Amino acid sequence: MANLPTPQPAPDQAAPLPPLARGQCVFGNTFDFLRDTTRLLVNSYRELGPVFRLRALWLRYTVIGGFEARDFIRQGLDEKYLTREAIFAEVGRQLGSADFVLGQSGEKHLRFRRLLSIAYSREVASAWVPDLLEVVRTHARNWKPGQVIHVMEEVQRLAFEQYCQVMCGRSLGAHYRDCLRVTDYNMNVGGRVWPFFMYRMPWYRASRQRVLDLMWGLVQERRAASHSHAERPTILDTLMSVRDDHGQPLTDDEVVCYSMYGFAGSSSYMSRVVAFMLYELVKHPDLLAQVRTEVASALADGISDASDVRSLRLLQATYHETLRFHPVSQGMPCLAAQDFVYHGKQVRKGDVTVLSQVPMSFSSCPFHRPEQFEPERCLEPRMEHRKENAFHPFGIGHRTCTAMGLVEQMALTQVAALVHHLDFELSPPDYQLRLTVKPLPAPDRHFGLRILGPRSHTQATTAPRAFLEEQALAKVVGHDDPAVLRLLSQASPVHFYPDEIILREGDPSDAFYLIARGQVSVSRRIHDQDSVLAQLDAGDSFGEIGLLQHRTRTATVTAGKEGADLYQLSRGLFEQLVATSDLVSCDLRRLLQKRMASQRLMEALPGLNATTLQRLLPGFLPITSPVGTVILREGDPADAFYLVVSGQVQVTRRTEQGSDVAIATLGTGEYFGELGLLTGHPRNASVIATGDAPVELLRTDAAGFAQLIEAGGGRDGSLAMALARRMN
Ligand code: HEM
Repeated sequence: MANLPTPQPAPDQAAPLPPLARGQCVFGNTFDFLRDTTRLLVNSYRELGPVFRLRALWLRYTVIGGFEARDFIRQGLDEKYLTREAIFAEVGRQLGSADFVLGQSGEKHLRFRRLLSIAYSREVASAWVPDLLEVVRTHARNWKPGQVIHVMEEVQRLAFEQYCQVMCGRSLGAHYRDCLRVTDYNMNVGGRVWPFFMYRMPWYRASRQRVLDLMWGLVQERRAASHSHAERPTILDTLMSVRDDHGQPLTDDEVVCYSMYGFAGSSSYMSRVVAFMLYELVKHPDLLAQVRTEVASALADGISDASDVRSLRLLQATYHETLRFHPVSQGMPCLAAQDFVYHGKQVRKGDVTVLSQVPMSFSSCPFHRPEQFEPERCLEPRMEHRKENAFHPFGIGHRTCTAMGLVEQMALTQVAALVHHLDFELSPPDYQLRLTVKPLPAPDRHFGLRILGPRSHTQATTAPRAFLEEQALAKVVGHDDPAVLRLLSQASPVHFYPDEIILREGDPSDAFYLIARGQVSVSRRIHDQDSVLAQLDAGDSFGEIGLLQHRTRTATVTAGKEGADLYQLSRGLFEQLVATSDLVSCDLRRLLQKRMASQRLMEALPGLNATTLQRLLPGFLPITSPVGTVILREGDPADAFYLVVSGQVQVTRRTEQGSDVAIATLGTGEYFGELGLLTGHPRNASVIATGDAPVELLRTDAAGFAQLIEAGGGRDGSLAMALARRMN
């Protein structure tokens, strides 16, 4: 260590420099970088340990990799030893003279994160799902049978168009080339691949100016239209209306910057994921066939929001496995703010330091056979991508991507629409994946698809039963996260008297409501007269529109003749849930419905208490029954107990003359199926899903029911007694 600055170094400074990955004399690791950055990172990590150095031409990187990179962030060492300001401040200036989130730290960073998590949330994207599908459908209609499309080029364009829909509700196609150039330059300069002087190139400056003019124009247009109500707020609307904890909005510069940043996220990052997904699907025909079946079935039911997209379980698993197997985000560059030692290796002040978790995605724990592409690993029961030590493609801790929900909506709808509407084959047929790194890895320009024509959808679109069950499951479960449930428990029950006004047209939007009991009517003042727009019942929700926008209410809601019991979620709580848990308002409604159902069950069955229910309910299987489904059939063996979460069921019994007579209608919180289980006799009535919406149920088998009885004091306990009383 003769070249260290002090003659007698302190023990830490005596640590050796990180080992340098083997490379060629002048070019270093340049060719490995360009050929396959993922392999280079994974192999260097395995051979050299968690801290190593790479070089590509004039670039020098110190990499902290794998689990150790994760721990570095978890321990807050990135905030202590690294700075991003110098690298990303310039990117922020390029995108509209704003402070750029990637370069921020501390309180300022947290403030941006909170605001951006709302603007880029799944909730905002959810309302645009039909448009996301339509954009792809319309674009793909231009492809002629026999034509070979260059996948990267086309999906990049589609990603851009999809983002524009959610960002401002229209195509900005005429500005595509300019937006792409601005994105490319900022990705490469921000990623420290190109030098800063590239920003001075006249063609770049001209493109940047045109894009800035365009974005400023959009902001002014929205400001001018702020009096009209956007039923479906865009990202731009939300960026303009979000407020921090002190009630402060983003500046117009920041609105422009963060509307533009999505061009990079979508056309650079997300398009690569889509291209890799298409490659894997076309290389795995069985998987492609199963995904097509799943998508066809979902489209037959209608895909209209985020929760419908989330029900595409196999496609979602393919997406997660693609993110693992083909990581696009290889690590963010930072500068070492001071000398420090990590895992025995010395990092010097000023070193470009990259924290890369990529090696984690090829670790054999928790990934069984990590070198194989296996979407099943991301499905129940394996769910390897959710396990401790799994790779986090969107970053970890306080630096995770704030647009995960948005990206998932765009990627899944894009692939779903392409595989559903088009028949295609690989072109050239023997194409094997080769990468191009610019600066992120993507399939090279030889990856093509030959369009065979539009797909015919005359075949039956019924999905295998297992899928359907899983889809139903996906609609309710997955959000049993204790943090979410804690937040939800803050929803306050409120009672309104008959005809009392719950919220008034023109009032500020400040809460979201779920109806627990009773009816409400929604009306609007039209030509000085109140016109009733809708009647809502128990289980329905209202009030989410305008909440993220800080807008005034667009209608008046009044309690019905019997009064109404509601759950109320304040705007702060709603924003917190949308930003931190990636939930959308329909998920919140379902979760509240579940809470309401268990509350009712507790009221109906005095032998049960909240703790017991909390322990037993996760064992119940959520199922969704379309209207008309026979849930139980009279005469069948009794094998399950059901709780109605939302919707209505009708209980009917067959008369001696052979006709069916309705004997009861059950709603939220009511239950059925206990009689046969208690007596061991076959079903004495049928139960059919009725009403005007699918019925959500929780089902438990005989063993689960026995546990419930046991928890309520056994066969002689108060629960069994209460159930028995109902039989008489
Ligand atoms: C497949 C697509 C994407 C991937 C894989 C991805 C990945 C990531 C990763 C790994 C980070 C953490 C960076 C760090 O360590 O500082 C990040 C941050 C971020 N991403 Fe994404 N991203 C994607 C798309 C998008 C899109 C479309 C947007 C915007 C519309 C976006 C907005 C952001 C923002 C604002 C941050 C900064 C978060 C912070 O510093 O706290 N990303 N992204």
